[in-house]
Amino acid sequence: MAPVINAKTVFNEIPTGYPVPGKTTVYDTSETIDLENEPLHGGFLAKTLIIAIDPFLRNRMNIQQGTDKPGFEFGRPLSAFGLAKILRSEDPSVKAGDVIRGGQIPFQQYFVRNDATGFEILKDNHSLPWSLWVGVLGMPGHTAYVGWKEHARAKKGETIFVSAAAGSVGSLILQFAKRDGLKVIASAGSDDKVAWLRELGADVAFNYKTESTAEVLKREGPLDIYFDNVGGETLDLALENAAPRGSRFLECGMISNYNEENPYRLKNALFIIKKEIAINGFFFGSLLPKWGADFEREMPPLVKEGAIKFQEDAVRGLEHAGQSLADVQRGTVLGKRVVIVADH
Ligand SMILES: NC(=O)c1ccc[n+]([C@@H]2O[C@H](COP(=O)([O-])OP(=O)(O)OC[C@H]3O[C@@H](n4cnc5c(N)ncnc54)[C@H](OP(=O)(O)O)[C@@H]3O)[C@@H](O)[C@H]2O)c1
Repeated sequence: MAPVINAKTVFNEIPTGYPVPGKTTVYDTSETIDLENEPLHGGFLAKTLIIAIDPFLRNRMNIQQGTDKPGFEFGRPLSAFGLAKILRSEDPSVKAGDVIRGGQIPFQQYFVRNDATGFEILKDNHSLPWSLWVGVLGMPGHTAYVGWKEHARAKKGETIFVSAAAGSVGSLILQFAKRDGLKVIASAGSDDKVAWLRELGADVAFNYKTESTAEVLKREGPLDIYFDNVGGETLDLALENAAPRGSRFLECGMISNYNEENPYRLKNALFIIKKEIAINGFFFGSLLPKWGADFEREMPPLVKEGAIKFQEDAVRGLEHAGQSLADVQRGTVLGKRVVIVADH
C-alpha cells in the first residue's frame, strides 16, 4: 500500500489571551505514513478516532510551573483525551481492532507508540456512540461525578449555585443536584444555554452576561453549595452570598482566568473564615481510583435510559481542531466539543 497523508495539528506558539488557529496551532498535511510497513519496534500503530477539546488544554499551552517550557512541544502535535483504534500491534497488551482511550491522544491521524501504559482498552460501549466516552462518560463525566460524591454532602432542600452550568461538567452537576432534591441556581453565557438549563430542571437559570450575578445570588441565595467552574468575580460573589455557616465550595475550574494576563483577584476571601466555608479544590484523577467503579456501574445505564442528559457538539476533521480550542475557551459551544478525526 502506498504511503498516506498523516495530517497533524501542531503547537506553534504560546498564545497571549485566546488561542488563535493558524498562529497558536498549525494544521499540517506534509507528513506521510506507510500503514503496512511503518516499523513498530515492539509497540503499536493506532488511528485517532476522536479528540475531546477540554478547557485545560489552554493551561497546557502556558509555561508549566517549575519549568521554562509550555506543556506542549513546539512543532509537535498537541495531545488530549481521546480515542484511537489499534491497526497493528507487536505489543501483547493491545491487539488490532481494540479501541483505546487515554489523555495523550495526539492531534494526528495515525501514531506509533512503543508503550501502551496510560491507555485503557474500552471493551463495551453499551451500544452508545464512542464519543460519549470522552464526554459525559469520559473525563468531564468523571470530574462531575467524583467531585459531587466526595465533597457535596448535599442535603435535600439546600441551595446550590453552579457556574458554566451548560458545560460538560456543570450540566451534570445541575442534574445530580436536582436528583438529590436541591434548589439549583445555574448560570451560563447565552440565552440558548439558559433554555437548556431550564430543560434540565434548574430552578433559577440566568445569562450572566445580561443579568447581574450579584442580584440573582442576593435574591435566590444564600448558598449551601457553590460548584465553581469559572473562578474570578463569580467566585467572589458566591463567597459573599454563602450561607452564614457550613457551606461547601467545590473548586473545579477557573476558566475566567485561563485567558487573562491579569486575572481577577478575590476581594471576599475573608468570608471563608467568617462563614466557615469548606473550600474543596479537587482534581478528578486523584479521586477516580476511589469512585471510578461506582461511576462505571451507575452512569452508563443512566445515560442510556435518558435519565442523565447531555449535549455534544461534534466537528469532523482535524483541520477544525485549532478553531475548536478557541471556541471552547470563548464559550461559543453548547455541549461537549469533540473533533471526529475518523469514524472507525
Ligand atoms: N478539577 C478537575 O479535575 C477538572 C476536570 C475537568 C474540567 N475542569 C474544569 O471545569 C470547568 C468546566 O469544564 P467543562 O469541560 O465542563 O467546560 P465547558 O463548560 O464545556 O466549557 C467551558 C465554558 O466555560 C464558560 N466560560 C468561558 N469563559 C468564561 C468566563 N470568563 N466566565 C465565565 N464562564 C466562562 C463558557 O460557557 P458560558 O457560555 O456559560 O460562559 C464555556 O462554554 C473548566 O474550568 C475546566 O477547566 C476541572
